[in-house]
Amino acid sequence: MINIAIDGPGGAGKSTIAKAAAKELGYIYVDTGALYRSVGLYALRKDVKTDSADEVVPLLKEITVELKFIDGSQRVFLNGEDVSEEIRTPEASMAASNVSAIQAVRDFLFDLQRDIAKANNCIMDGRDIGTVVLPDAQVKIFLTASAEERAKRRYIQLTEKGQEVNYEDVLKELQERDYQDSHREIAPLKPADDSVIVDTTEINLEQSIDTVVNVIRERI
Ligand code: DC
Repeated sequence: MINIAIDGPGGAGKSTIAKAAAKELGYIYVDTGALYRSVGLYALRKDVKTDSADEVVPLLKEITVELKFIDGSQRVFLNGEDVSEEIRTPEASMAASNVSAIQAVRDFLFDLQRDIAKANNCIMDGRDIGTVVLPDAQVKIFLTASAEERAKRRYIQLTEKGQEVNYEDVLKELQERDYQDSHREIAPLKPADDSVIVDTTEINLEQSIDTVVNVIRERI
């Protein structure tokens, strides 16, 4: 199977770009952030402290997370409930980042990711795909952009979805999450040694997709 790993900080456009590239190449697109978001959402609903391993780990035995691919688009199910939209709030983002620093949570979601990659040609995006989940991926891309540009894009995306947010809060939340995701002890966000770095600060969406598709085509 052909496995492409795309990692990078929040708001770099990973999901939009990876989705478009996957469509062009005929692969499935797997958004692994949705898995951490689902665990985070469950912890939020249970009103536990999402950064406390002692409080989050016992919940794992109550949780089933599944990914389904409907018309090529991914939906995530938490105990059978489709939570694909609900996991996108700023609260769920922070909860995801918090629970993702817990080793038992990463272990819990590991096999699911590996099994999908074994069975499908896929582009998988996340933070540790090239470094931990798919170290043997044929192509690894680290997709990034400046924090301000990422915040601007995320702000537009959330506003278009009707969420009431302000730019400063979005920027602050992204920076907090970047710091936390890059500085945690386990599986921190960092480019794999053999990754190609694509910086999209100065290029538009179409150019970013072309760049990523070209990087992939050159290597497979
Ligand atoms: O990609 P995203 O913004 O939806 O991810 C939400 C959080 O989940 C992110 O802040 C860190 C965590 N995450 C992770 O630790 N490893 C992954 N492979 C994907 C996401």
